[in-house]
Amino acid sequence: MSRHLLSIDDLGAEGIEEVLKLADSFVEVSHRDIARVPALRGKTVVSLFYEDSTRTRLSFETAARRLSADTMTFSVSTSSVKKGESLRDTVQTIDAMGVDAIVVRHRSAGVPHQVAHWSTSAVINAGDGWHEHPTQALLDCYTIRQRLGGVAGKHIAIVGDIKHSRVARSNILAFTALGADVTIVAPPTLLPPSLAGWPVTVSHDLDAVLPKVDVVYLLRLQNERMTEALLPSAREYTARYGLTRARAALLADDAIVMHPGPMNRGVEIAAEVADLPSSVITQQVANGVAVRQAVLFLLLGSGASRAA
Ligand code: NCD
Repeated sequence: MSRHLLSIDDLGAEGIEEVLKLADSFVEVSHRDIARVPALRGKTVVSLFYEDSTRTRLSFETAARRLSADTMTFSVSTSSVKKGESLRDTVQTIDAMGVDAIVVRHRSAGVPHQVAHWSTSAVINAGDGWHEHPTQALLDCYTIRQRLGGVAGKHIAIVGDIKHSRVARSNILAFTALGADVTIVAPPTLLPPSLAGWPVTVSHDLDAVLPKVDVVYLLRLQNERMTEALLPSAREYTARYGLTRARAALLADDAIVMHPGPMNRGVEIAAEVADLPSSVITQQVANGVAVRQAVLFLLLGSGASRAA
């Protein structure tokens, strides 16, 4: 693995497989009475989150602690960012304290690359604007493999606000790298202006796609990123693109329902569909810890390739 995890492209199929394989052993450890191992004792992992997060930040911090690393949380609302400190100065301040990894989330695409340039730590992208969210894609690949035996040859529909979704971008890269067929399903206003180079099929007809897929992956409407009205109303969206109970019945018996969270129950997914046995949403969260342990270990553990 390279020194940072900024994009799924940093890994390729081989790198993804390496993470998933190592995550298996951390899942195994998580079932023991004491889930903690000493692998990263003496290392410090800091989370630098400029955007809201529940599961991603807690998941990284849990992963770091299970590896016996020390953790620090940087909270924008109580930091000197409020006094006008620049991102660069903040990063260099944190770096000067001798941290080993910076987990960064920011509303702008490319910030993790900048942070990697300014600091001497390993940098992990925990979501940058509309761009990428690589550890989400890894935990999703892990969950599909766990439930369906593998990703290769599976047909996966990603449904909803593709335009603003960093999850969609990372997941399309990861799913196709592992040999899945991906169909994106969205109203034209929620697709990127150009899909040139995207290795996907596009559909606007969810009812026609659902019977054919192994996985339906739902996305939240990213209202905070919409600068104009792209939909007539949430109700209209649900009527055409929501996974209602009736639509879920179109799925094959062994197909699974996924969502990165946070869900808007009743909008992109019906409340009761999120709780069906075919829904693996809480497994995604559980697997996220082991997958992030694998990423941290590969970047910081004894075998990690460190820059001089
Ligand atoms: C996503 C994110 O922040 O990119 N959530 C997550 O990390 N699990 C998706 C979203 O906010 O809709």
